[in-house]
Order: sequence, then structure tokens, then C-alpha cells
Amino acid sequence: MEAQVDVKTQEDGYDPKIVGFLCNWCSYAGADLAGVSRLRYPPNLRIIRVMCSGSVDPAVLVEGFLRGADGVLVCGCHPGECHYQEGNNHAARRIETLRKLIALTGLEPERLRLEWVSASEGKRFAEIVSDFVDTLSELGPNPVAGDSPDIDIMEGLYVARSAVDDFRLSLLINKEHYLETKPNAFNEIVSSEKIQDLINRAIMDEYARCRILLAAQSDALPVKEIATRTKIPEMDVLKHIVSLRDRGLMAMTEIQGTSPLYISQIAEGEEISTLPLWAKVQKESIRHSIENLGDVDEATKKWIVRELLLTLRCYNCERRRNDVCHFSVCVRGLLSGVVE
Ligand code: FES
Repeated sequence: MEAQVDVKTQEDGYDPKIVGFLCNWCSYAGADLAGVSRLRYPPNLRIIRVMCSGSVDPAVLVEGFLRGADGVLVCGCHPGECHYQEGNNHAARRIETLRKLIALTGLEPERLRLEWVSASEGKRFAEIVSDFVDTLSELGPNPVAGDSPDIDIMEGLYVARSAVDDFRLSLLINKEHYLETKPNAFNEIVSSEKIQDLINRAIMDEYARCRILLAAQSDALPVKEIATRTKIPEMDVLKHIVSLRDRGLMAMTEIQGTSPLYISQIAEGEEISTLPLWAKVQKESIRHSIENLGDVDEATKKWIVRELLLTLRCYNCERRRNDVCHFSVCVRGLLSGVVE
């Protein structure tokens, strides 16, 4: 991708650079047809062939902007025609979430585009590229590219790259269809508005949490300072710190005057990926409890381990065992597998 972005399309002036991820089975063939049919479209697109639009990691799309692309295009088979059945549906949900995250960074979400192009739609492919180039020409150059990048947006993109990988978010996005069609623990189908609401809230929360982790990565800071650096209201910072401490991602180091100082538990340069550390913390606490069990037989030990696993907090709703998961998507159950 770096090589594709680095290609200079024009010496002077602004000529949008677009990185395109085209699925092998439909869209790449569509692009090929446009070429074979000698259809004219702007040469701004650098193509990366992938097996399916669903195989493109959203973090890679953010990386495209960080490396200087003015626009990123993902093309896949039309709905219902994906060669891997659900790949394009996954891509649609992930990209929609990513566009919301990108909007939070200050970068225009229109710079990320998803289109369906079949193998016979060479003309449509050429039109999409021309239209995208027009849109990007109106938007102007990517603000994080060039010699004086916009640091705020750049930092936001790093945060978005971490947030889109967040376990809670990925789970909600990938389970969206399941949640909308299968009854929950109360035998009700949760409305798609409610699911969207939940996803939107998760997007805002995880973006804010990743921002807080980044702000307090090298120095222990009081809530007020974190709020100033992240531009998040103090009360919200406090709420997120409680959640991050619960996941083992943030710790209090000391109390200065009357203000506690908090520091991120993620080392500088380390990816802000929340699941592994969170799982590790819970796993450690379970192991510690097991080691201190004393002399008990194997059957009792197994029973105790099972009970301990049930006391894990759900990563999604952060509830413990006796609460019924309203969305029938108990992440605690999934995590048990990770911890075991
Ligand atoms: S194979 Fe084309 S989008 Fe999945």
C-alpha cells in the first residue's frame, strides 16, 4: 500500500491519490473490463487486489489515510453475490462503523467509499472512479499528508485505528445481523434502531477510551489534564477511567494534592488493543485464586474454576453472572474460551 500511495500522479498542484481494494471475483474483473473496453477514467486509482471486500481489515483502511492517500475505495460483489457468502455484508457493516469513527477525528468520512461492482460493470466502475475523483478534488488534499500534517486529525486516526479493532465493537458489528434476527433472553427481537443505538454508543465510548489511553500513555495525569488534552468533558473522562481501570487498562499511581493521577497500562509504541490485556488480567486473578485453593480434589477444583469463570465481567455490558444479557450475546461466554 505504501508503494501505491507514494506514486506521484502529478508534479504540481493537487491530484487526488486513491487506494482501491478490489475483490478478486467481481470488482477486479469489472476494473479489468473497463480497461479492456478502453473506457476512459482518471488514472488516480492504485489498485490492491484482495480475495473479498470482507477480508480487508478496517485498520488497514485507516493506515491508507495515515500514509497519505486522499481517498480509500473498497469495491466488492453486489449483496447476495459474495463468493464467500457474507463477506460483503461484513465489509458494509465495518466500513459504516469506520466512517463514523473517521468523522470523530475531523477527517471527512466521504474520503472512504464502499461500492458494489460486478464483473460485467466496467462502465459503472469507470463512473465510480471519476465521481470519487471529483468528490476528492472538492474536498482538497488529505490533511495528514504532506510536510505539515494536521496533528489533531493524525492523532485521531491513530485512535480510530485502535478503536475499530476493539473487541467490544467488532463483536457488536459482526453480531449485528444475529442480534436483529434472533430473539434475546426475553424472547424478544431487539429492534434495529436499538442495536444501532448501542453500536453508536459503543463507537463514541471506545473512541473516547482509546483517546484517554493515548493521552495518559507516557505520564500519569489528573482527570482535569486528561480532559483538556482529549477535549472530553471531565465527568465523561472519569466515567471512562472507571471502565478502563475495571479492564486493567488504566491504573492510579498516586494522589497529588486532592487529585488522583492515572496512567495507561499500555506501553508507548504498543497497540491499544483492549481485549488481550483485559483477558490477561482476569485470567491472572483466576489463576491466583486457583493456586490458593489448598487441598481440594479434582472435581471440586473443576467446579470452582467454572464458578470463577462465571464471575468474569461481560466485556460488552460489564455485568456479572446473575444479570441476564439483554442482547443474548454474552461476551463473557466467549471470553471464557479465551481464558480457558
Ligand atoms: S468475493 Fe467479492 S465481495 Fe466477497
